[in-house]
Order: sequence, then structure tokens, then C-alpha cells
Amino acid sequence: MMETHSTGIKSEAEIGGVRGLLRHVYRSVIRHGYPDTPRNRSLVIISNLFLHIHSVRVHKNSLRAGYTLGLGVLSFVFFIILAVTGVILMVYYIPSPDQAYDRIKDLEFVIPGGRLIRNLHRWSAHGMVAVVILHMARVFYTGSYKNGREFNWVVGIVLLVLTLGLSYSGYLLPWDQLAFWAVTIGANIAASPVELTDALGITEYADIGGMTKRLLLGGNEVGADALIRFYVLHCVVLPLAAAVGIGVHFWRIRKDGGLSRPGEKAHGHNGEAP
Ligand code: HEM
Repeated sequence: MMETHSTGIKSEAEIGGVRGLLRHVYRSVIRHGYPDTPRNRSLVIISNLFLHIHSVRVHKNSLRAGYTLGLGVLSFVFFIILAVTGVILMVYYIPSPDQAYDRIKDLEFVIPGGRLIRNLHRWSAHGMVAVVILHMARVFYTGSYKNGREFNWVVGIVLLVLTLGLSYSGYLLPWDQLAFWAVTIGANIAASPVELTDALGITEYADIGGMTKRLLLGGNEVGADALIRFYVLHCVVLPLAAAVGIGVHFWRIRKDGGLSRPGEKAHGHNGEAP
């Protein structure tokens, strides 16, 4: 008697020939049958790298658009747009005081589509800051930071700081007057602990403010060293940290038993779903 896969699809040996080979290749990519049974529907999700981020079954409350307002997903969409447009901008941009400003002007007025890419990047950056703050407010007002989700709230705070860090570090890169003075003001705010250490008379021994400012700028004022530091932070360090953080954030949502819902019982102290 002929053996068939549990999905009901015949194997290469059963069909034979070129058709069998093609079917074999197809089956090595699509490993499930037509999604008309609960098992095959589950396999569609489980056997796909991108879809398996979602759980196979979700509570109907999680699908209510009015509950999350899609703000977390929107934050992620902005992050992806920023990553893609950022890589394109990197092709043209040079982080040197002699060239940075001209390169941005080229992007605006010479390179075809450059202005569109730059504006997509700028507006998505503003959008992400606004939407992440709104997402945080939604999580707070629905009490979704409770019942084992405290850790994910802390991961969220880290993501908020990274989002603001990305926004601030990108500010300097156009190397125009606005960039120069905005970062000068930011660096002076970072140096503000000096007021306290001065009042305590310990600045000579522990100049925390001055050290933070010099660490940020690579000197006492905004110059070539500051530009390269901000470039590395903006294009490598912070995006990588945010990508890892977002991965942990999504993984925690799954481990916490999906999204919060009204009337939910408290989880165990390790936060795992029962
Ligand atoms: C880069 C920034 C962020 C991204 C991409 C992101 C993404 C997401 C997504 C996609 C969800 C699923 C539910 C939804 O769409 O609302 C979610 C849930 C959650 N987020 Fe975020 N998030 C970010 C920042 C934050 C911040 C700043 C906080 C709070 C400080 C936070 C705390 C949470 C918590 C506690 C949940 C679970 C909510 C529930 O169970 O109802 N996230 N996040």
C-alpha cells in the first residue's frame, strides 16, 4: 500500500520522475498542506521564520484594533523604514566636517530620489519618537505592565532610551547650524552635574559632568571627533542595540502568554505563561 505524508501529499518516490522531483523541491520549501485543517494552519505559522513570531492561537481581545491601537507594531514599522532608508543614506553620506554638509545638500538637490529618502528617514524618526511614547501610554493605561510583564516594561524603557538616543545622535549628522547648536546644547546639558559637583567643591576630584561631555564629544566642543562618534553611535551601536532589544521585547510578549487582556489572572513569579 502507498504511504502518504500525514499532510496527505504524496512523496517523490510515490509520484516518480520530473514531476516527483519538482514536488520534492516544492515540499522542501512549503512543508505543510493546504491550510484547511487546524494542524495545517498551525504548521503554516510554525514552519515560517517570519510568521513564527506570532503564536498559533491568540486571544480575540488581542485582535481588537481598539485595544493596542497598533502602536507597538507601528513603532516597529517605523524602525524598519528607518533601517532601510538609513542604509541608503549611508551610501552617500561621509562623516567628515569637510564633506558632511555638502553630501546632505547633494542628497537634497542632486541625487535622484535623495530628497524622498532623506524625508522618509526624517519623518519616520519623528513618527517613531511620537508613536513609542503613545505606545508606552497605552501599555500604562491598560495596566499591561503588570502580571509578569514588569520585565518587558523595563525592556520597553530601554527601547525608549535607545529611540531617543537614535534621534539625538542623528541630529548632528547634517552638520548645519541647527545640528551644531542643538548638539552643543545637549552636550552642555550632559555636563550639568558640574553644577552639583561645583557646589560640593569636588569637581577637581570627580568631574562627572565634564567627563560625560568629553566622552560624548571626544573633546570640549563639537568638532570632527564628535561627528565620527555620533555617526558610529547612530549607524551601528544604537540600531544594533535596538534590534536586539526589539527581539527580546517580542520574545517576552510570547513568553508572557501573548498580550494582556481584561480579567487576566496573575502569572507565576517567573512570568511564564501557564
Ligand atoms: C522601539 C520601541 C518599541 C517597539 C517596536 C515595541 C513593540 C511592541 C509590540 C509590537 C507590542 C505588541 C502590542 C502592541 O502592538 O501594542 C508591544 C507590547 C508591549 N510593549 Fe512595546 N514596543 C516598544 C517600546 C515600548 C516601551 C517604551 C514600553 C514601555 C516602557 C513598552 C512596553 C510594552 C509592554 C509591557 C507590552 C505588552 C503589552 C500587553 O501585553 O498588552 N514597549 N510592544
